[in-house]
Order: sequence, then structure tokens, then C-alpha cells
Amino acid sequence: ADAFDEECDYLFKAVLIGDSGVGKTNLISRFAKDEFRLDSKPTIGVEFGYKNIKVRDKLIKAQIWDTAGQERFRAITSSYYRGALGAMLVYDITRRTTFINIEKWLYELREFGNEDMVIILVANKSDLSQSRQVEKEEGKGFAEKESLCFMETSALHNLNVEDAFLEMITKIH
Ligand code: GTP
Repeated sequence: ADAFDEECDYLFKAVLIGDSGVGKTNLISRFAKDEFRLDSKPTIGVEFGYKNIKVRDKLIKAQIWDTAGQERFRAITSSYYRGALGAMLVYDITRRTTFINIEKWLYELREFGNEDMVIILVANKSDLSQSRQVEKEEGKGFAEKESLCFMETSALHNLNVEDAFLEMITKIH
């Protein structure tokens, strides 16, 4: 791992945003460590996940920032977005309000984030289809309207998680 680090060609910063409880922390831990927790607690401030990946012969270290969805636990917004090349906007398909609030998150992202940031809209918890409140077509439609990439994921079942991160990271350069 150390040798790999020394040889890394790029460090990419990406951020995850979205309402509390949509699964941001678990998406990162699934991607970076292949771990999932049913009892994960709300994030306080900022946490990080790292993963080294190879994209078109380049060694890339993805540094993924995870912030609190809850307003009272949030870190300073401008420093959170500074230098980020990618962003994952996450909602929970079983809670419609988390999808409605994507508009608000996107607004913040466009205010503080880099203009040419790669943004992917992620509809998480696809394993809970019996409690679905947001149809896939709706998420996809919104993403198209806003020129975002789109993917449905399940951090629990490990569905599309790696694909979503790779989609974002490989589009960065
Ligand atoms: P904040 O830190 O408060 O912003 O929340 P968060 O977005 O980081 O959510 P977190 O990853 O802590 O997950 C919240 C809850 O949803 C936990 O109980 C997770 O186990 C659960 N969860 C996360 N992803 C999935 C998923 O894909 N499917 C199911 N069924 N549950 C999930």
C-alpha cells in the first residue's frame, strides 16, 4: 500500500452531500473498505474515506469527504467544497423529502463548488423497493434536466456502489 501511495499520480477530492440518514457514510465505507453498518450513527463534522484506483494507466488516490446531513453537525461549508473535483448528491428512495431536498443541495453545491465539478445523483437504498417513494424514472429525469449522471445504489446489498464512484472519478479528467 505504501509503495502504491508514493507512486500515485493524482489526488482527487470528492464530496458526498444529502440529507441525514440517506446512507452517505455507508456508501463510502462500502466503496473504501467493503463495510456496511446497520447501526451507523449520524456523522458529526467531517470524516474521510480513501481508495486507490487505477484509471487509464494513472494511479489515483480518491479522497472522499463525508459530511453531516444534519444542519447542527455540519462543518464550515466553503472549506468542505474547496478543491473538490467530484460530488455525489445522495437521496433515499424510501423518503420523498430527501429527493425534494436535492434541489437545495444542488443549489449549495453550485454556490460553493467548482464550476466544472463532476456531479452524480445517487438514489440509495434500492434494496428497499417495497417502501419506494421515488421512482427511478423520476430521479433519472431530474438528473437529465440538471445535466447530472444518475445511478441507483444499495450500500447494503453492494449494488452499483463501486460503479457510482468510478463513474464520478473517471469523468473527472
Ligand atoms: P448523516 O451522517 O446523518 O448525514 O447520515 P448518512 O447519510 O451518512 O447515513 P448513514 O450512512 O449513517 O446511514 C443511515 C442509515 O441507513 C443506517 O441505519 C444505515 O444502515 C442505513 N442504510 C444506508 N445505506 C443503506 C442501503 O443501501 N440500504 C438499506 N436498507 N439501509 C441503508
